[in-house]
Amino acid sequence: MNKIIFLASDHGGFSLKETIKKYLINNKIKIEDLGCSSLDAVDYPDYAKLLASKIENNNNSFGLLFCGTGIGISMAANRFSHVRAALCTSVEMASKSRKHNDANVLALGGRILTEELSKEIVFEFLNTKFEKGRHLLRVKKI
Ligand code: RB5
Repeated sequence: MNKIIFLASDHGGFSLKETIKKYLINNKIKIEDLGCSSLDAVDYPDYAKLLASKIENNNNSFGLLFCGTGIGISMAANRFSHVRAALCTSVEMASKSRKHNDANVLALGGRILTEELSKEIVFEFLNTKFEKGRHLLRVKKI
């Protein structure tokens, strides 16, 4: 994996972002952390927007978003037409979000998931390819 992975969170996802950031760095994956940088309250749409603009300017890059539930930040990210953000709570969802939906952003809930499961979800997301074929026609219709 030589593409850069962008990470962003609000305060609800901050701790999980830090955990996943270390996990990716330990696995020699290039990352850029767009914040937030503490547990102080911030607004998740601001971070979704920041990440969406990075994805737009870096061809074929992936993003990881974190908030308390993953819901708000995925909603905000999906307002940008080039973003296909998948809120995943299982490895199976992460796998399908890549194979069938060509998701380019994964959203995780820092107050929902364990660190261990989150790492497994991230691994699956980053290592699964889009199957194209019939799924490409559907993704194009989004
Ligand atoms: C912040 O308290 C919380 O609402 C936010 O992290 C997220 O869960 C929103 O969907």
